[in-house]
Amino acid sequence: MKKLRIIILEDLDLDAELMKIKLKREGLQFTSITVDSKENFQKALEEFSPDIILVDYKLPNYNGMEAMQFSLERYPDLPVIIVTGSINEETAVNCMKEGATDYVLKDSLSRLAYAVEGAIKKKRIEEEKRRAEEELRNLNVELEKRVEERTTELMKVQKELLNNERLAVIGKLAASLSNELENPLTAMRKSINYLKEKYQGVDAESQKHLDTMEEAIMKASNLTYKLLEYVHAPEANPSGIGGMEIIEDVLSRIRIPENIKLYIPKKEDTPYFYADKEQVGHIVQNLLLNAIQSMPSSGELVIKSGVIGERGYLEITDTGTGIKREEIEQIFEPLYTTKLSGIGLGLSICKRYADINDGEIRVNSKPDEGSTFRLLLPLSELE
Ligand SMILES: Nc1ncnc2c1ncn2[C@@H]1O[C@H](COP(=O)(O)OP(=O)(O)O)[C@@H](O)[C@H]1O
Ligand SMILES: [Mg+2]
Repeated sequence: MKKLRIIILEDLDLDAELMKIKLKREGLQFTSITVDSKENFQKALEEFSPDIILVDYKLPNYNGMEAMQFSLERYPDLPVIIVTGSINEETAVNCMKEGATDYVLKDSLSRLAYAVEGAIKKKRIEEEKRRAEEELRNLNVELEKRVEERTTELMKVQKELLNNERLAVIGKLAASLSNELENPLTAMRKSINYLKEKYQGVDAESQKHLDTMEEAIMKASNLTYKLLEYVHAPEANPSGIGGMEIIEDVLSRIRIPENIKLYIPKKEDTPYFYADKEQVGHIVQNLLLNAIQSMPSSGELVIKSGVIGERGYLEITDTGTGIKREEIEQIFEPLYTTKLSGIGLGLSICKRYADINDGEIRVNSKPDEGSTFRLLLPLSELE
């Protein structure tokens, strides 16, 4: 065992010697330093790095209690044993209250070694306890962190599973729906062809109605086709495409209501993207339609484009209803819709197309103020 380092604060040399003899006799291995003044005590405390201090309660030019308090303030874990000629019970209790580990009367010094060993043992146990507590605390923090990580992971997986389940249902529905619809739609198309031939050059007005019907039928079969395409995870076929080209292409396909004011970017501000032209067109079209639908009476529709870091963006802002904070996460889920005649597939298709084009869609929205949807895409190296 390592030699103990002891400071003895004692004015009587004889008493100090006696203490050492008693300790040695009990087999204690130690080195000690004896001091008798405030100055020397404080110096020893800093320089001797003791394991324990023995303090005489009554000193001519210092005060045992004060010495103990000084030591405890700086080294709260350093055990202090009061060694005194005479002490009344009240003083003894007081010393213990103030933080002494033990006290020993000078006329029963045979107890000193026992007291010193006890104090050292107590200190060690306390240190171990503290270390164990500290370890436990660290483990706890680590555990909490892991539980949190796992929970987030699980929630993500669960959400994906739910979405996949929904997709599977949509897939089945779409497949059976397109089967069911095929026969009646084909029959209708045939009849329309027959009528068209019959009225050719005879009744222009009927001809126009027949055209409208034909178009509607095309749309219906297109819808089931699109559903199937969505469920069967298409691949991206990227190439370099100009941002302005995309915007103009989409705007030629949809009608902007008169009460909505449209702003489009300058051609020179729109970058060249590297993405699947049709899929990006589909995304922009969906975002524009949603924006228009969010402004039933009137509003402003602003299309912007530019470059951020290594990616380009197309951004659509409306002054419509906006989206509540708690709903933002849901709007990309398949079948989520807040519209009476909505299907809730638009944004989930957009997200999927964005994903397979190494892109991303970000939303910023405030209820009653409007929304901004930003589509980020890789840039093309060639223009
Ligand atoms: N620009 C927008 N402004 C306000 N709400 C929007 C906007 N775009 C999407 N949303 C919300 O997200 C939901 C899902 O959109 P979407 O997937 O396109 O399905 P749908 O248009 O069929 O409802 C909408 O029902 C609507 O609540
Ligand atoms: Mg939509």
